[in-house]
Amino acid sequence: MLPYEKYLQEILIDEQTLQSRVRELGAEISQDYADCTDLLLLCILKGGIMFLADLTRHISVPHEIDFLAVSSYGKGARASSGNVRIDMDLSEEIGGRHILIVEDIIDSGQTLRFVMDVLQARRPASINLCTLLDKSEMRTVDIPIAYRGFEIENKFVFGYGLDLDEKFRNLPFIGVVKKDMIVND
Ligand code: IMP
Ligand code: MG
Repeated sequence: MLPYEKYLQEILIDEQTLQSRVRELGAEISQDYADCTDLLLLCILKGGIMFLADLTRHISVPHEIDFLAVSSYGKGARASSGNVRIDMDLSEEIGGRHILIVEDIIDSGQTLRFVMDVLQARRPASINLCTLLDKSEMRTVDIPIAYRGFEIENKFVFGYGLDLDEKFRNLPFIGVVKKDMIVND
């Protein structure tokens, strides 16, 4: 038995399905930004790392990448509190640039609301959001999503960048965590 198998209820999105959807998103973004000379993919760490790494290879428009690490605090790791803080800021100025945020999952939307407000204040030319997963039924704040990989039910998932207590981000698929394995801290 592999280490992750004891936490895995089922594979929700297999590797092939993920890869072909990422390819489609890359093609769509490439079309939409065909005339853009200053595109910056902004990956939200840590969860967005796998998605960014694959997505960037399917975007034919010249672009740059940068990273922003945020975490939410004040509540358990399974629920966003709305108290979000920046752990690591961007290395680039974004004023006047076209920003495409690359995120693993939007749940309540609190994290992204905070991120978008912080970024808007720096006066970019545009900001769009590309999320791999969307748990839309959990939304408590309105978030405009320009590119969405998959809409999913409210189940705790891991793999492909998403962690289970910081582990298993390396799995090439998205799996559902077994119910009795979810610890509410
Ligand atoms: P939000 O602020 O409620 O939208 O939460 C977004 C963040 O919560 C994501 O960036 C993830 O880090 C984390 N998150 C939400 N749902 C899951 C999940 O099912 N698995 C792993 N992380 C999750
Ligand atoms: Mg995250």
